[in-house]
This record gives sequence, C-alpha cells and structure tokens, in this order.
Amino acid sequence: MATLKILTAGDPFLRKIATPVERIDKKITRLIKDMQETMYEADGVGLAAPQIGVSKRLVVIDVGEENGGSYVLINPEILKKEGSVVSGEGCLSVPDFEGDVERAEYVECEFTDEKGRRMLLQAHGLLAICVQHECDHLDGILFVDKAQTLTRKEQKEDDMEKFAKKQNKKRGRK
Ligand code: NI
Repeated sequence: MATLKILTAGDPFLRKIATPVERIDKKITRLIKDMQETMYEADGVGLAAPQIGVSKRLVVIDVGEENGGSYVLINPEILKKEGSVVSGEGCLSVPDFEGDVERAEYVECEFTDEKGRRMLLQAHGLLAICVQHECDHLDGILFVDKAQTLTRKEQKEDDMEKFAKKQNKKRGRK
C-alpha cells in the first residue's frame, strides 16, 4: 500500500469528467486500497479518484460507524435526492477553506461494489452529504463552486506546533 499525492484546487485535472471503471482488476483493487490509506492518512471522510490524478469514477468513503460506515463506490449514480440541508464542508483538495453548502438530506445511490455487484445505497445525513460531495468530484465539481459561504480555515494547533518546532530548529534549538 502507498499514500498518494492529493491534487489541490487550481489543478485542471480536478475539472475533468472522469470515465467509468470498466473492469475491477488487480490494478483497481490496489488503487482502492491506496485511496483508503491516503484518505485515512489525511484525516478525510471521503476521496474520489480524480483527486489523486486518476480519471475514473471511483470513490472511497468512511464517515465512521455512527454515521453510516465505510463504502467503496464504483461508477456511482445518484438516482434520487430528497430534502435539503445546509452544512459546513471541507475538501482534501481545498485544504485552506471551509464553507456552507446546500445538499439533499437523503440520496439513493446505485453503485458497483468491489465484487462487481450492483448495489443501492440509501443514505441520510453526513453519509448523504459525503456521497454528493464525492460524486461531484467525478464530474469536475468542487464544493467551493456550490458554497454559500467560504472561510479560510484557522490554523490547527498541530500545524502551529509544527511551525513552532521548525522555527526553533532554525534558531538552533530542539
Ligand atoms: Ni472533496
């Protein structure tokens, strides 16, 4: 397994429309594992293949057990959307910003699983939001395109600590 480089906004690759996965072979299986590892390493709840430079309709999601669990969505298609909810979103490809986005509260999404079976996911809440956010990536859409508000993220404490350490090193301290 390996962690992959995540492309960030401004990279034209993120704006491409991804093509369907035609065969679930070893290459795709390995890609799924690498995408999951990359997502966990980056503390994300979802990652779409275009974000790591692969123009395929493939998404990995893990919103945590209490919010609906983890999924691998191959060639996902949202068939039904209901309700609406506005919530704060971020994206591994837009690391410096967060913003409020309106999404459907409930979605039905058809997808192929890792074994090649066509499945139906019925999702509410965070999982539904995540499915919509990741499916947008497959069509070259970023959350910033839809955001009602956009704010620069405050630097996290651990970032500050890293920064402080670096500064101390420069000064010849440990
Ligand atoms: Ni994203």
